[in-house]
Amino acid sequence: MTISKSEYARRRKRLMDMMASNSIALIPAASECTRSRDTQYPFRQDSDFLYLTGFAEPDGVLVLIPGRRHGQVLLFCRDRDPTMEQWHGYRAGPDGAVSTFGMDDAFPIDDIDDIVPGLVEGKQHIYYAMGHNDTFDRSVMAWVNQIRSQVRTGAKPPGDFTDLAFLLHEQRLFKSAAELRIMAKAGDISSQAHCQAMRECRPGRYEYQLEGAIARTFAEHGARFPAYNSIVGSGANACVLHYDENRDRLTDGDLVLIDAGCEYKGYAADITRTFPVNGKFSTEQRALYDLVLNAQLAAIKKVRPGNTWNQPHDATVRVITRGLIALGLLKGNEKQLIKDGAYRDFYMHRAGHWLGMDVHDVGDYRIDGKWRQLEPGMVLTIEPGIYVSPTNTKVPKKWRGIGIRIEDDVAVTASGCQVLTAGVPKVADDIEALMAS
Ligand code: GLY
Ligand code: MN
Ligand code: MN
Repeated sequence: MTISKSEYARRRKRLMDMMASNSIALIPAASECTRSRDTQYPFRQDSDFLYLTGFAEPDGVLVLIPGRRHGQVLLFCRDRDPTMEQWHGYRAGPDGAVSTFGMDDAFPIDDIDDIVPGLVEGKQHIYYAMGHNDTFDRSVMAWVNQIRSQVRTGAKPPGDFTDLAFLLHEQRLFKSAAELRIMAKAGDISSQAHCQAMRECRPGRYEYQLEGAIARTFAEHGARFPAYNSIVGSGANACVLHYDENRDRLTDGDLVLIDAGCEYKGYAADITRTFPVNGKFSTEQRALYDLVLNAQLAAIKKVRPGNTWNQPHDATVRVITRGLIALGLLKGNEKQLIKDGAYRDFYMHRAGHWLGMDVHDVGDYRIDGKWRQLEPGMVLTIEPGIYVSPTNTKVPKKWRGIGIRIEDDVAVTASGCQVLTAGVPKVADDIEALMAS
């Protein structure tokens, strides 16, 4: 299960078909990042670069020149080097970039300053992702300034700079069949990891031990890294939306919220489940849990072609506001409370985001100022929550410190939607049954 060489070629072609005539696009790879003296953070390729090349090494630049007779797709990459490879691992080198990765031509990255100005010279448009990578911004400006310094000899610097994101990110928003298969697998592995955490959960164990169970399950299934730092928050830690210290002891009677998803073949899953540390929801926990679940189910029902991006979110707001009134946590008229945003004391984020190679994936949410329509091939999360701050003195004490989120990954299909993360239970009775087994 991979993205084929021909799919990478199709992606590049589609991008080049959208580029203006007489133009060039420059797409840099990610660089390694120091963690502490002589040690690096695990390398993660830049998503745009990976999307267009499948090339997983650091320190490369992809150059696309639509219509160029001597090759439209050029890659600058690290040269082969026996000593460096002995210490740090295999490199494809320019020859491998052509033979294995289907580039038209490739050059050592060390030669880029000598070659790229000549490729840019005479082009009217230059496309690149401005302002995301200081080093690359400076390189591009240096190449352009080198051309500008030669205008008296007839050199022609580019006149138009366009953010590549406008062209590329719209394409990335729509997932191909192969991408959807990989994302379903990422969802499946992540579901299994959440099930494993539920099985291993006991009062007296620690949040980081559940994090470990999740990471181990990811790796068992071929996903070495999480798509983002796993969140394991028990008790009131669940009310901190991005809590990832994961250091506290699991207390009998508390809930634990786990937000964790693996990265599989470059694609993210993003799942949240909330369950009782001792395997049994209390009355208050169950009441709020069922409310969040109803909001989530109502939102998923709204995921279908033709509906707009905000409809699932608006559904969660209606269900949560009505439910909080019924439970006595909000007081007043439902319509007015929604208008005033009263639910935001308990539900302070939106219902979801695009999902893909990046966990908060690329793609516009509005078009011409209006929420965009959902279309087949889009993948999004649906993740409402209720978080009752431990310091919220406006509600009876029994509710305070309860934090609940339920998050699934949902692909828009021709007729509705498909939940990619259905492999982990979310109905309270089913969670209790799994934990008791
Ligand atoms: N895990 C990050 C998010 O749910 O958006
Ligand atoms: Mn999410
Ligand atoms: Mn999440």
